[in-house]
Amino acid sequence: MSYSQTFHQAMDAVDDITINPAVNPDLNQVIDSGRRDFLKGGLAYGLMGLSGAILNTPLGGCSGSIRRGPLLGFAAIDVQTAPDFDQVIVADGYQAEPFFSWGDAVLAGAPEWQADASDDWRDQLMQAGDNHDGMHYFPFHDQPSAHGLLVINHEYINPTLHPDGFKWQDRKRVPAQVKKEQAAHGLSIIEIKKDQHGQWRRVPDSPYNRRIHAMTPMQISGPLAGNVQMKTRADPSGRVVLGTLNNCSMGVTPWGTYLVCEENWHHYFCNNDEGDYETRISHKRYGVAQGKRSKYYAWESVDPRFNATPDANQPHLGYVHEPNRFGWVVEVDPFDPDSTPVKHTALGRLCRECAVVSVGDDGRMAVYSGDDTKGEYIYKFVPDGVFKEGSRQLNRRLLSEGTLYAAQFRDDGRGRWLALRLGENGLTPDNGFADQASILLNTRAAADRAGATAMDRPEWIAVHPHTREVYVTLTNNDERGDKQPLNKANPRPHNLHGQILRWNEEQADPAATDFEWTVFLLAGEADTAESQAGDIVADNLKGNIIGDIFSSPDGLMFDGDGRLWIETDYDDDAQQNQNMGCNQLLCADPFSREVRRFLVGPRGCEITGITFTPDFRAMWINVQHPGLHYPASDGKSRPRSTTVLITKLDGGVIGA
Ligand code: FEO
Ligand code: CA
Ligand code: CA
Repeated sequence: MSYSQTFHQAMDAVDDITINPAVNPDLNQVIDSGRRDFLKGGLAYGLMGLSGAILNTPLGGCSGSIRRGPLLGFAAIDVQTAPDFDQVIVADGYQAEPFFSWGDAVLAGAPEWQADASDDWRDQLMQAGDNHDGMHYFPFHDQPSAHGLLVINHEYINPTLHPDGFKWQDRKRVPAQVKKEQAAHGLSIIEIKKDQHGQWRRVPDSPYNRRIHAMTPMQISGPLAGNVQMKTRADPSGRVVLGTLNNCSMGVTPWGTYLVCEENWHHYFCNNDEGDYETRISHKRYGVAQGKRSKYYAWESVDPRFNATPDANQPHLGYVHEPNRFGWVVEVDPFDPDSTPVKHTALGRLCRECAVVSVGDDGRMAVYSGDDTKGEYIYKFVPDGVFKEGSRQLNRRLLSEGTLYAAQFRDDGRGRWLALRLGENGLTPDNGFADQASILLNTRAAADRAGATAMDRPEWIAVHPHTREVYVTLTNNDERGDKQPLNKANPRPHNLHGQILRWNEEQADPAATDFEWTVFLLAGEADTAESQAGDIVADNLKGNIIGDIFSSPDGLMFDGDGRLWIETDYDDDAQQNQNMGCNQLLCADPFSREVRRFLVGPRGCEITGITFTPDFRAMWINVQHPGLHYPASDGKSRPRSTTVLITKLDGGVIGA
């Protein structure tokens, strides 16, 4: 097994620890009054308005009509099972080319990336970060499908960031390495444009080009701004935080800003005080490390900001509150390179995978998020105000005030959004929730109390561009049936392959409090499958995919015609994934439920991040942490996380 595989398996092992202690009542015993037949037929495939579909949203470029005919216009490609497979391959009639790799220049004057990884942290601040994940193409209005800004998350870093892996001196990390690691987090914003030959190019030295990283100052907004629980030795105001961490998936607002999400931020902190930890729910319920070391990179050994042990000799107990300043949605305006990113506390604190916006005909909105840990919840935030096209300043306040809900899925196919609001659903001072700020700080504990349904690791969420039907990937959960009970939304014990659910809000209203849901598909093996050793595959590993098999759905996005693009993230070395081969991008028809494999990535990588031009003729996806030598694929070079550009050879719409 390669060093890269060992490293990623070690990271998976800490990512995948169940933290949720809640034993919610059997939700199917809950008697519901007033069932309304609000969806089947009425909403399901009726044409919804597109008031949110301005150019800068993922809905931009929609045809405005629903295609019910065959949506999948390409021939599927095969799985790739060779241990040395080290390319990106894509369906016949398409091309896939590396476009933007870790270390590529972002800022003016950035030095050229060094193949031995000898660039220092100052260089890294000007170059692309590592582990590309969620991203979005923001068009300029002059030539929307030929000129835009590409915004790319850099989720975390690999040992290949350094010439010879992670270094320690006297049981501490080497400070210059830690600085480089912090510089390689965050996001890149790059201007891109088609040249006179129709080829996409990065625009070097563009004034829009920007790196945001783990040291970039950010403003805290919403109910927690200035709260005592947000104050630290370095920030007695509780309103300014340095950086964003572990930016996985994302969202886009209809007013043209980018929503960065903070996922596994808890692995960057530790609290050495066992007694304090046991009573500090804002650490314990999120799995901040208790003990001498944080779970990822031990930055706290040289950077005290990451040591969240209370220190009675320091103002605000030192940095005990620093973890409280992560887990939020961070809004970034890519068109204003001087703007300060804003952390919105009204949306709650999670290990947040995504923040996906749905806009109703009347401008009411939902922002959907998954909390990606085994047995955690799905949330939506409904702003108090409504979106009004053209009212940019008013719109930018929409994420500061509103109601956060957690989802309850019942076995009868109905669901309810449980308000996480003071005085409702058991969220009272007697139960430890003194005010709304404490509910938002300890969102997981509030959702436990409210009775939300523990899910199989919610990852990305996508909203159908015409019906507003909502889809979520539940990537996998090997502890289902053990630490969390089986139910119809999470139906398989020891669920190694995951599922995709979908739901319709009542009257297709993003702000509704009731919904109806179904399982879109169970990922996994075909019914008749055998393992490569010729054994019969166990029932819990069998799915119900119509078409090409895959495991562990993660990235998810609709294009303008309503094709559902599905990206996978599984350990391609694991025994149960041998029939799946390397990670992949597939495309599904939400009507027929057929799935076809469109792209396969190199051994060891995850496929993630997906965005299109408004005409859907250029697509970008990310190859995160390739395990061998991609993109050089020469048998010797250091692998680099890479954004890949995909186009159709005839210039047509991708997937059609
Ligand atoms: Fe970073 Fe849940 O994926
Ligand atoms: Ca993910
Ligand atoms: Ca994942």
